[in-house]
Amino acid sequence: MARKKIIAGNWKMNMTPSEAVALVNTLKPLVVNDDVDVVFCVPAIDIIPAMEAAKGTNINIGAENMYFEEKGAFTGEISPAMLVDAGVKYVIIGHSERREYFAETDETVNKKILKAFEHGLTPIICCGESLKQREQGITIDWIRQQIKIAFLNVTAEQAATAVIAYEPIWAIGTGKTATSDQAQEVCKGIRDLIAEMYDAATAEAVRIQYGGSMNAGNAAELLAKPDIDGGLIGGASLKPDFGQIVNA
Ligand code: PGA
Repeated sequence: MARKKIIAGNWKMNMTPSEAVALVNTLKPLVVNDDVDVVFCVPAIDIIPAMEAAKGTNINIGAENMYFEEKGAFTGEISPAMLVDAGVKYVIIGHSERREYFAETDETVNKKILKAFEHGLTPIICCGESLKQREQGITIDWIRQQIKIAFLNVTAEQAATAVIAYEPIWAIGTGKTATSDQAQEVCKGIRDLIAEMYDAATAEAVRIQYGGSMNAGNAAELLAKPDIDGGLIGGASLKPDFGQIVNA
């Protein structure tokens, strides 16, 4: 069974609520494509207005983060139930910026993933190596460790529905994209690991995105690779280019 492609925007800390509505309205005619799952992961405060603006379209509104507790004294955090109640289906977990600036670890990423599944949310699980790690030749080892910890206690049924985003840190926001062969190599390595940890059917089902300076110019080549099932797009998700990526 062919995996459906999934193209997700990661707006990061951009767009006020009114700007978010305007951007959804600009992009909605450009991202129409029934063969692709289209997701806009937006700042928490933009979720409800963006959801409203996207009503009746093929756009799914997702979140960029959530906390792993149910509720309570966690000032400033967003709970899974809040996302579900707002109509969210996808949530980015463990983006490298969360790991770098907000002290997220493989362990907190694992807790968030388990909590997301418990609430029926689909996590978009981020992994990726630094430039130093790539130069040291430990890319695959590093990614395997990140994924192994991220999936601790995740069942095969859950894993099959997960989205994994392979995002080399050196390619994020730098304009420096991994070559399609480099991206394919790691995405295949991730799929092989899922087969090892679970089984062939789970590995066949899991969707793996590439992220890191994906744009209208390089998307088609990356998305043509057998183990690249989509993209997680930062900068280019805020522009009409995003429509070109969806249709690439
Ligand atoms: P970029 O960001 O497309 O701007 O490189 C990707 C990401 O951080 O998800």
